[in-house]
Amino acid sequence: MTDSNTYNYKVVRQFAIMTIVWGVVGMAVGVFIAAQLAWPALNFDLPWLSFGRLRPLHTNAVIFAFGGSALFATSYYVVQRTCHARLCSDKLAAFTFWGWQTVIVSAAITLPLGITSSKEYAELEWPIDILIAVVWVSYAWVFFGTILKRKIKHIYVANWFYGSFIITVAVLHIVNSMALPVSLTKSYSAYAGVQDAMIQWWYGHNAVGFFLTAGFLGMMYYFVPKQANRPVYSYRLSIIHFWALVFTYIWAGPHHLHYTALPDWAQSLGMTMSIVLLAPSWGGMINGMMTLSGAWHKLRSDPILRIMIVSLSFYGMSTFEGPMMAIKTVNALSHYTDWTIGHVHSGALGWVALISLGCLYYMIPRLYGREIYSVKLIEVHFWVSTIGIVLYIASMWVSGIMQGLMWRAANDDGTLTYSFVETVQAMHPFYIIRFLGGAMFLLGTLVMVYNIWKTIAGSKPVIAPIPLPAAAH
Ligand code: HEM
Ligand code: HEM
Repeated sequence: MTDSNTYNYKVVRQFAIMTIVWGVVGMAVGVFIAAQLAWPALNFDLPWLSFGRLRPLHTNAVIFAFGGSALFATSYYVVQRTCHARLCSDKLAAFTFWGWQTVIVSAAITLPLGITSSKEYAELEWPIDILIAVVWVSYAWVFFGTILKRKIKHIYVANWFYGSFIITVAVLHIVNSMALPVSLTKSYSAYAGVQDAMIQWWYGHNAVGFFLTAGFLGMMYYFVPKQANRPVYSYRLSIIHFWALVFTYIWAGPHHLHYTALPDWAQSLGMTMSIVLLAPSWGGMINGMMTLSGAWHKLRSDPILRIMIVSLSFYGMSTFEGPMMAIKTVNALSHYTDWTIGHVHSGALGWVALISLGCLYYMIPRLYGREIYSVKLIEVHFWVSTIGIVLYIASMWVSGIMQGLMWRAANDDGTLTYSFVETVQAMHPFYIIRFLGGAMFLLGTLVMVYNIWKTIAGSKPVIAPIPLPAAAH
C-alpha cells in the first residue's frame, strides 16, 4: 500500500496549496497598504480600497488564511505520520477544508465592505464567527480523534503543541466573540469598557501565542529534525518548553494595555509574565537550533534547512524584543509607533512565514511524489525574502524609535518640539524602504510559486518512498 492510501493526503495537499495561494494574496494586500502609507493617493478615494478597510483584510488574510491553512496542512500531515494512523474522518476533514475556505472568502467580501466588529484580529461579524467555531470544533474532533486511534503509544511533542493551539484558539475565539447581534451584519460585544479591552487582549495576545506561535512550534518539532535528519536536540527540554510556554503565555495579554484604565496591578502582572516568557521561548528556539548540532555543515548545502533555521533566529529575536517592549517604561516609547509594526513583522515574516514556507518545501514533493524542480530557486527565494525582511524590520525600527522620540520631545517652556505632521514627514523615507522590503518578500514567494508549480507539474521523476518518521523515534 502506498502512503497516499494509508494516509489522507488529499486534505493536506488542498490546505498546502491554499497556504501558498492565500500567502500571495495576503502579502500582495500587505504590499499595497504599505504603498498606501507611502503614497496616500493610492486610496483612490474609494471606501473599499481605503487603508482602514484593507488593513484588516491583510491581517486576516496573512494570519488566518495563510497561517491557518499552513497549520491545518502541517498538523494533519504530522498527526498522521507520527501516530501511524489515517485521519479519523475523511468527511469531517473535508468539511474543515471547505468550511475554512468559506470563512476566508466571507472575510474577503465583508471586510472591504466595511462590515466589522472592530475588534482587532476578531473583526469578522457574528454569522462568520459561528462558522469559525463550528469548523474549529470539527478540526479538534479530527485531530484528537486521530490521536485516539494512533498505533504508536507515545504522543510526539509536535502534537502537544498543535493540540494546545487547537484547544486554546477554540476557547479564545468563543469567549471573545460573544456578542449581541442587532442585524445580520452588525453586533455589539457582550462586554463593556475595560472588561471588553481585557477580554480582547487576552484573546489578541494569545492569538499571537497560540495561533502564531504554539502551532508553528509544532512545525519546528517535526520538520526541523526531519529536514536535518537528526533527532530533536533534547526531548526532555521540549516537554519543559511546552508546559512553561503554555502556562506563561496566557497571562501576558495586559502588556497591550499599558497606561490604560486597566488596573495597575494587572498591567504589572502582564509585564512580569512577559519577561518570564523569554525563558521558555528561548528554550524552545535553542532546542530547535541545536537539533543541528554535529550537522551544521548542512546549512551550507541545504536551503530548506537554512530557511527553517533563519526562521528560528527571527523567532528568538522577536521573543527577546517582545519582553523588552512589555516593560512599561520601554512601552511608553514604543506603543503606537512603527516599532510595534517592526516587532510584528520580525515575528510574522521572519518566523511564521519562513517556517511555513520551509515546511511546504519539505512536504509538497512528498505529497505529490515528485522531486523538487529547482534547489537553486529555493536559494534565490531564501535570499530575496530574507533581505526583504531585513529591509522591512530595520526601517520600522528606525522609523518607530524616531517617531516615539519626536512625539515626546519638548522645549524648555514645555511645548512640543514637533508637530504631528512633522513626524509623519520624517517617516516617509522609511515607508518607502518598508514597501521595497515587503515587495521583495512577495517576490521571493512568487519564485516559490513557480518552483512548486513546476514540481507538481512533474518535470522531475518520482522520489523514493518516504522513510518512517525519525522525529517520532
Ligand atoms: C516572548 C514573546 C513576546 C512578547 C512578550 C511580546 C510582547 C509584545 C508587546 C509588548 C507588544 C506591544 C504592545 C503594544 O505596545 O501595543 C507586542 C505586539 C505584538 N506582537 Fe509581540 N511579543 C512576543 C512575541 C511575538 C511573536 C513571536 C509574534 C508573531 C509571530 C508577535 C506578534 C505581535 C503582534 C501581532 C503585535 C501587535 C498587536 C497589536 O495589534 O497591537 N509577538 N508584543
Ligand atoms: C509582503 C509582506 C508584508 C507586507 C508588505 C506587510 C505590510 C503591512 C503593513 C503596511 C501593515 C500596516 C502597518 C501600519 O498600520 O502602520 C501591516 C500590519 C500587519 N501585518 Fe503585515 N505585511 C506583510 C506580511 C505579513 C505577514 C506574513 C503577517 C503574518 C503572518 C503579517 C501580519 C501583520 C499584522 C499582525 C499587522 C498588524 C500589526 C499591528 O496592528 O500592530 N504581515 N502589514
